[in-house]
Amino acid sequence: MDILTEPIARGFDIFDVPPGYLDDPYPWLRQLRDDDPIHPNADGSVLLTRYADVRAVWREPGTSVDKAEMFRERFGEGPLLAQHTTGMLFRDPPDHDRLRRIVHPFFTRATMARFRAFLEATVDQLIDDVAERGRFDLVTEFAEHIPAAMINRVLGVPAEDAQLLRRLGLQVLFPLNPRVPQEAIDAGHAAAGEFVDYLGEHLAEVRRRGVDGPPGSVLEALVAAEADGAAITPDESVHMCLLVFNGGHETTTNLISVGTYGLLQHPEEFARLAELDDRAVNVAVEEINRYVSPLQLQGRRTTAGMDLPSGSLPAGTEVVLCQASANRDEREFADPDRLDLSRKPNAHLAFGLGVHTCIGNQLARLEARVVFPRLARRLRGLALDGDPIVNPNIRFRGLSSLPVRIGAVT
Ligand code: HEM
Repeated sequence: MDILTEPIARGFDIFDVPPGYLDDPYPWLRQLRDDDPIHPNADGSVLLTRYADVRAVWREPGTSVDKAEMFRERFGEGPLLAQHTTGMLFRDPPDHDRLRRIVHPFFTRATMARFRAFLEATVDQLIDDVAERGRFDLVTEFAEHIPAAMINRVLGVPAEDAQLLRRLGLQVLFPLNPRVPQEAIDAGHAAAGEFVDYLGEHLAEVRRRGVDGPPGSVLEALVAAEADGAAITPDESVHMCLLVFNGGHETTTNLISVGTYGLLQHPEEFARLAELDDRAVNVAVEEINRYVSPLQLQGRRTTAGMDLPSGSLPAGTEVVLCQASANRDEREFADPDRLDLSRKPNAHLAFGLGVHTCIGNQLARLEARVVFPRLARRLRGLALDGDPIVNPNIRFRGLSSLPVRIGAVT
C-alpha cells in the first residue's frame, strides 16, 4: 500500500489509531517496525512491533499482567472489575499458576479431540443451511455460530443460551478497549453480574450432582478439582468459567471470518486447501493463525529494567505487545503479507508465549482444522460478494459482516 508517504512514527498512537488502520493495520505496523520499534504512546506506554522484542518480553518471567489499579480507576468497584482482576489472565504467579494448573489438564489436545464429532456435525449442518441460499453472510450465518456452540459445550452450559452468553461476553470484553464511554462500563458491570449469577447457578448444580469419572466439561473439571481439595475459591471458579468463555469465543469467530476473507483473497490457496491431507491441514492452520492474529495486542508491565534486541525498557514500563505486527515481521517470516499454506517453519505468536500462553489453543486449532478444509471442499468456488465490515476493535481484529456467494456445492 502506498498511503503512507511520510514517516508516521512521530504522531502514531495505538490507542487513537489513524483512519484506515482498522481496515488494514499492516502498513502502519511495518513502518513502526522499521522506524520506531519501541514506540512511545501518548499515555506513556510503549508499543513493541518487532518479533524478537515481543517474544523476549513474553518469555521474561519478571513481567506483570496485574492491572488492578488501572482497572479500579477505569471501572470502579463491581463485577466487571472482579472479572478483570480475578481471572488468571490478569493474575501473576503464584496465583496464576495455581489457577492454571486446575484447568490445564482439561485443555489437552486429546481431551479436545473428544469434541470433534460434535464440531463436525455442527459445521456440516451450517454448511447445509447456507448452501441452500447461494449467497450468505459468512460472519452472521456461519462463523459466529461455531465457537458459540463449541464453547457452551466445552464449558458445560446449555446450547440454547449461546446467543445470550455471547452478548454478555462481548459487553464484558468491550471495556478493555481504551476510551470507552461510561455507558459501556455500566453495561459491562451489568453483563458481568448477570454472567456471574448464571455461571454460579450452573456450578452449584454440578456440585449438587457431583462428578463421576473423567470431567466432560470445564464446569465438571472445576468441581472435581474443588472436591479433590484444589486451592480455588468459588469466586475464582466462576471467573475462570467467564474467562474461558470470553477467551474462546470472539477470538475463534474472528479467526474463521478473517481467515476466510484472507483465503478468498488468495483463491489459489483456498482451492489448494481442499486437496490437503490432515498433516498439511495442520501446517495450513498455523499459517492462517499467523496471518490473521485474531488477538492483536497484549499488555505487560516490566518489574525490572529489561534489555531487548531493539533497546532497553526501564522498570515499571507499561508495554503493549503487538503480536499482529510480530507475525508479519519480515525479519522472521519471508514475504510475510502472503498467505502461504505450506509455510514452514512458522513459529508465530498468535497464541502468545510464556506462562499465559493460550490455554484454549488446542480447541481453537481443532475448530480451524475442521472448518477451513470443509469450507474449501464443500463450497468450491466460494467468492466475495461485497465488502467486509471490520469491527472497531484494535485488540480483537474481526469482521461483523462478510458477504459471500457460492459456486458449486459438494
Ligand atoms: C484463535 C483463537 C485464539 C487466539 C488467537 C487466542 C489468543 C490468546 C493469547 C494471545 C493469549 C495470551 C494472553 C497474554 O499473554 O496476555 C491467550 C490466553 C488465553 N486464552 Fe486464548 N486464544 C484463542 C482461543 C481461545 C480459546 C478457544 C479459549 C478457551 C477455550 C481461550 C482461552 C484463553 C485463556 C483462558 C487464556 C488465559 C491463559 C492464562 O492466563 O494462563 N483462548 N489466548
